[in-house]
Amino acid sequence: MNTPRHYLQFKDFTREEYDYLFGRVRWIKDKFKRYEPYHPLFDRTLVMIFEKASTRTRLSFEAGMQQLGGSAIYLNTRDSQLGRGEPVEDAAQVISRMSDVVMIRTFEQDIIDRFAANSRVPVINGLTNEYHPCQILADIFTFIEHRGSIQGKTVAWVGDANNMSYTWLQAAEVLDFKVRVSTPPGYAIDPARAGLAGTGHFELFADPMEACRGADLVTTDVWTSMGYEAENEARMKAFADWCVDADMMAAANPGALFMHCLPAHRGEEVTADVIDGPQSVVWDEAENRLHVQKALMEYLVLGKVDS
Ligand code: CP
Ligand code: NVA
Repeated sequence: MNTPRHYLQFKDFTREEYDYLFGRVRWIKDKFKRYEPYHPLFDRTLVMIFEKASTRTRLSFEAGMQQLGGSAIYLNTRDSQLGRGEPVEDAAQVISRMSDVVMIRTFEQDIIDRFAANSRVPVINGLTNEYHPCQILADIFTFIEHRGSIQGKTVAWVGDANNMSYTWLQAAEVLDFKVRVSTPPGYAIDPARAGLAGTGHFELFADPMEACRGADLVTTDVWTSMGYEAENEARMKAFADWCVDADMMAAANPGALFMHCLPAHRGEEVTADVIDGPQSVVWDEAENRLHVQKALMEYLVLGKVDS
């Protein structure tokens, strides 16, 4: 049995692999927009395991696999033995003998790492407490579509030290851009948790407005991620000044983009005029989940292709 490639963290791929992948995303997206069928994964099966809720991730993986000619099966912890204590290592053995690629959305990164270590087929991280690499893949492709290469550019992160922010930090090291981070007191970034090489691609700011200065992209996320609901009341108070508004966008570079992985809470982490305004590209971001994940599945299952 060959050891499969997995996509568990953003840093699992090199810059060269991302260059290849973004080229494939462009090709696959253009073909899709011309209504030209492309079925490189004919007869292949994707298994999607969800231990947390999802709209975009489920839809984009399921539709994406169908569009590539394969089929997708949805499993959740409520209806499968995964929720009744079957060891994740055993589940990986069984599921990966019946499928060609697996996507998992779960809690601790350790769960997906253990699944991957026991899987015969590629495993994709569809969000863990620690990372959300497919989303950052879509966000960076969206940035490239609007502004060209992200290398040397500056991203401002305003809000929680969560799966999204840690993935941005990894992406900055791999693709060589800067991240200016502002989190409230008590919710600071832990560089050890980010799994960074320590190449100095991020800076921390106490003031969110400062973090936005000179940014080419301002981005944020919910104040309370899935799995942290018990902290919601405390977070609402602690994060009150970390709402991306028009003043923060004005502190960024002219023409700066605004991104949010969604779902969003207008009036909490972002004002309605920003997320619904002309600098916002949130709908492109959401759509691009489909296109980037099709290229990702093609690459993990088939390797590099020439078409
Ligand atoms: N952005 C994102 O991952 O959305 P879902 O939670 O709806 O999948
Ligand atoms: N940080 C959020 C992202 C949701 C797509 C969460 O983990 O709930």
